[in-house]
Amino acid sequence: MAKIGIIGAGTWGIALSVLLHDNGHKISVWSALPQEIKDLQEKHEHKNLPGVVLPGDMEFTADLGHAMDQKDLLVLAVPSIFTRSTAHAMNPFCKEGQIVVNVAKGIEESTLMTLSEIIEEELPMADVAVLSGPSHAEEVGRRIPTTCVTGAKSKKTAEYIQTIFMSPVFRVYTSPDILGIELGGALKNVIALAAGIADGLGYGDNTKAALITRGINEIAKLGVRMGGAFETFCGLSGIGDLIVTCASMHSRNRRAGILIGQGKTMQEAMDEVHMVVEGVYSAKAARRLAEKYDVPMPIVDQVNEVLFEGKPAAEAVQELMLRDKTKEANTLTW
Ligand SMILES: NC(=O)c1ccc[n+]([C@@H]2O[C@H](COP(=O)([O-])OP(=O)(O)OC[C@H]3O[C@@H](n4cnc5c(N)ncnc54)[C@H](O)[C@@H]3O)[C@@H](O)[C@H]2O)c1
Repeated sequence: MAKIGIIGAGTWGIALSVLLHDNGHKISVWSALPQEIKDLQEKHEHKNLPGVVLPGDMEFTADLGHAMDQKDLLVLAVPSIFTRSTAHAMNPFCKEGQIVVNVAKGIEESTLMTLSEIIEEELPMADVAVLSGPSHAEEVGRRIPTTCVTGAKSKKTAEYIQTIFMSPVFRVYTSPDILGIELGGALKNVIALAAGIADGLGYGDNTKAALITRGINEIAKLGVRMGGAFETFCGLSGIGDLIVTCASMHSRNRRAGILIGQGKTMQEAMDEVHMVVEGVYSAKAARRLAEKYDVPMPIVDQVNEVLFEGKPAAEAVQELMLRDKTKEANTLTW
């Protein structure tokens, strides 16, 4: 049995708490919101995961130092816009070599840093790892078979995390490619917005498949240029996560995209989804990364123009369809 602190009590932190509790570990969950802790203590249910019962011996606390004290493993599960502030607040309580598994997805807009880079900057004493893949909290909370990949600097840490999370309903693979795993997870949210927009416009499965396929092509080109491994983008945290995010109504990025495709503005869509739509933040970061690394990302460009420059969604699709003729893969020649 391991002692685990879950830092962040959103839907993903709570679903992982249930999984890790099922695996026999001792769980303390921290939230920045005292009212959320009170509700969890009283109701043993998270408002966005109805029907997922939280066991009586799971601890909920608003005291960050207590949640981190003497833990074998910390899971950092706050939305990416709070990753830096939360990691900063964790610093005084973090011990040397503390394993911190980041499960959020995003890129910091102002610095273009990945989340593990931010955590390493704020917690230089920690052993920072990641866990990512096609894994909606609503399904993990209901114990539906799910697969993920964990990335860590050492094989030993990756295999430790694998052992902690693995269960008959949650299969975990290991990888040394932290960067590739993080880029896949962050950038797929931008493509999910595009997939939602296409749905909102009333387009069909052909359009969706085109966005998924050409979307992973853009993500992989940028990711490889930045130092990620091509194989990672063909794996669970790459194409796997992109498929689930573009296909599922659990995806808030896709749901926001549908509303935009139906004619709502970005702000109206964000307000209606009621949750953080990370793809909106990642879209700007992705475009700047594309410029910095000189990688063409036409879908990312069009999503940015629709979100931030008021371009009608149907016009964006037309532009994608009428781009200059090109080959499918630059590496293949006659
Ligand atoms: N939900 C999923 O299915 C899922 C799956 C895999 C990965 N993720 C990733 O996990 C991360 C968290 O997602 P989520 O679905 O749990 O998000 P969420 O929208 O449910 O998170 C909201 C939570 O953020 C926390 N919060 C609010 N204000 C805060 C603050 N100022 N500082 C710190 N924490 C604060 C609160 O606990 C709140 O409940 C995201 O990066 C997401 O991409 C989510």
